[in-house]
Amino acid sequence: MKHFIEILDHEPAELEHILSVSADLKKRLKNGIADRLMLGKTLGMFFEKPSTRTRVSQECAVVSMGGVAINLESSSRLGEREAIRDVARVMSRYVSLLSIRTFGHELVKELARWSDVPVINTLSDYSHPTQAMADIQTMREHVGDTAGKTLTYIGDGNNVARSLFSICAKLGVRFACATPEGYELDKEFLSYAEKCCPKAEILLTNDPALAVKEAAVVYTDVWTSMGQEKEKSERIKTFAPYQVNAELMAKAPQRALVMHCLPAHRGEEITDEVMESKYSVVFDEAENRMHIYRSLFALLLGER
Ligand code: CP
Ligand code: NVA
Repeated sequence: MKHFIEILDHEPAELEHILSVSADLKKRLKNGIADRLMLGKTLGMFFEKPSTRTRVSQECAVVSMGGVAINLESSSRLGEREAIRDVARVMSRYVSLLSIRTFGHELVKELARWSDVPVINTLSDYSHPTQAMADIQTMREHVGDTAGKTLTYIGDGNNVARSLFSICAKLGVRFACATPEGYELDKEFLSYAEKCCPKAEILLTNDPALAVKEAAVVYTDVWTSMGQEKEKSERIKTFAPYQVNAELMAKAPQRALVMHCLPAHRGEEITDEVMESKYSVVFDEAENRMHIYRSLFALLLGER
């Protein structure tokens, strides 16, 4: 594995390996075993959008393995002061790994194309693959084997939805997705994903009640993603029938888990009641972000 940019780039066995290393390193960490797999190693993190979990979980992952994380703050947008291909090659002379959270997905791909060190996509407008990995780890911790179980996503056909679709399609998890009309997953992604995973079991609908019917997990994300703030008032109106609330959860199987990548806009896509219910595992997901990064860093550095 050279980079971690897109779930669909990887074979199921490789994704399973990342998950199993993550679970193993997590268990060892909880048992007080310090796996110093990044001694003398550095991670450079580009952030062109805000972050809490992604920044702190990466930093803590690196520190826990004896390395150093550097936040690559910049007063200008990436590619503005100098070409990405130059930034990539300069950074490759200093750091052991690079991660990037940005708007355009092309920028992530361009960085990876020119970087001599592994690059990790920590969210673009297109996808959020490290989130989806942590989500599947969380689902497995709670429901055991995920094969043939359904993960239902309710809301915007956005970066998080694409990555969840991808991980489910790759690992044999059934994926149901309810979006408002006009906010569906885009056709280009769908045809590529279906080509990569022809056997995937997918339900795409505009009806949230239908989507949650067989859900082992009901998952949602913000209606207005970072960068879409101008559309917020229109989106709040359009997405209102897609709120994950007690009424919708009553249509799901009784013990369905509730997941959310966070940050949550309580009272919009999810109610306080559902977020605080005993089936909500949102903070386990947040924790697993760190374990997935520990696994990815170790694997990309050839230390596992
Ligand atoms: N879920 C997630 O990526 O959170 P942050 O935006 O806080 O990093
Ligand atoms: N879809 C959200 C995810 C945040 C983690 C966004 O891109 O803002």
